[in-house]
Amino acid sequence: RKKMILDLDTGIDDALAIAYAVADPEVDLIGIIGSYGNVYVEDGVQNSLKILELLQATDVPVYQGLAHSSESDHFDRMPISAEIHGQNGIGEIDLPAPKRQPEKGDALDFFINAVEKYQQDLILVPTGPLTNLDAAIKRSPKLVDQIGNITLMGGAVTVPGNVTNVAEANINQDATAADHVFRQAPLTQVGLDVTLRTLLTRKETQQWRDLKTKAGAAFADMVDYYIKAYEVTSPDLHGCALHDPFAVGVAIDPSFVDTIALNMYVTTDKKYYGRTTGDPARLSKPNPNVKVAVNADVDRYLASFMEHLTGLFAK
Ligand code: BDR
Ligand code: CA
Repeated sequence: RKKMILDLDTGIDDALAIAYAVADPEVDLIGIIGSYGNVYVEDGVQNSLKILELLQATDVPVYQGLAHSSESDHFDRMPISAEIHGQNGIGEIDLPAPKRQPEKGDALDFFINAVEKYQQDLILVPTGPLTNLDAAIKRSPKLVDQIGNITLMGGAVTVPGNVTNVAEANINQDATAADHVFRQAPLTQVGLDVTLRTLLTRKETQQWRDLKTKAGAAFADMVDYYIKAYEVTSPDLHGCALHDPFAVGVAIDPSFVDTIALNMYVTTDKKYYGRTTGDPARLSKPNPNVKVAVNADVDRYLASFMEHLTGLFAK
């Protein structure tokens, strides 16, 4: 089984990413690292613990990662995304306080040690800002050659951003960290180019509600909240985007997307802050390090997504 670590800022689609990873029998989810973004890091960690408990996956350790952007001289903590994910990050649904605490150990050391141990068998899926990954690479630069796969949700290449004209939310939180990661690590970029095509509607959440289980009802309520937010902010889409669980899907089965290989960088200048771009200066260099997902097998992914999650919520 593939070993996987998720690095996420547990809002609603991050919760779906956790569920997808827990549901896939090919995946051994060996840990979760908490990030900030949709919510503050402490709340994201609590949400991860609550979701794991709801899914009866209480053997997955949760570590608290870094609390704010590596550009902390510019800003300390950015506002959370309450209008999309709710004040509590999980669509205002009420889950019991988790019985477990987050792990006491250092999140970056946990990740670095896992890379040492599992090497090519380890997949990292960041679905929040890249602050933790950047800091881990600084602490252990060789990890970029050791790790088997990094598949992240972030950025956009062929479509505009979702928080500014040029920036996607995760990259916009810490473009400096993202730039370091994009320049150094081999990775697959699952950006808005493809995640805005994988949409969920109330038809699917009704299927979960019909299961009449705790998990089915909780996820249906949570995702209905997310769908409502999308109806306000992106009425043309007719559904909510499965950003983060699509990154997990692609990490497990890269054939869900077509990619183009580029050397990427991230703009940190104010005017185009957070834009992810193919570097023209390195176009002729061999072995570009980033695979940019540009086309998605949406129907096949959605079928897999529903099979995995409905099966899990039925338990
Ligand atoms: C990304 O930003 C967050 O709000 C979502 O969880 C996702 O990771 C989409 O731009
Ligand atoms: Ca996220």
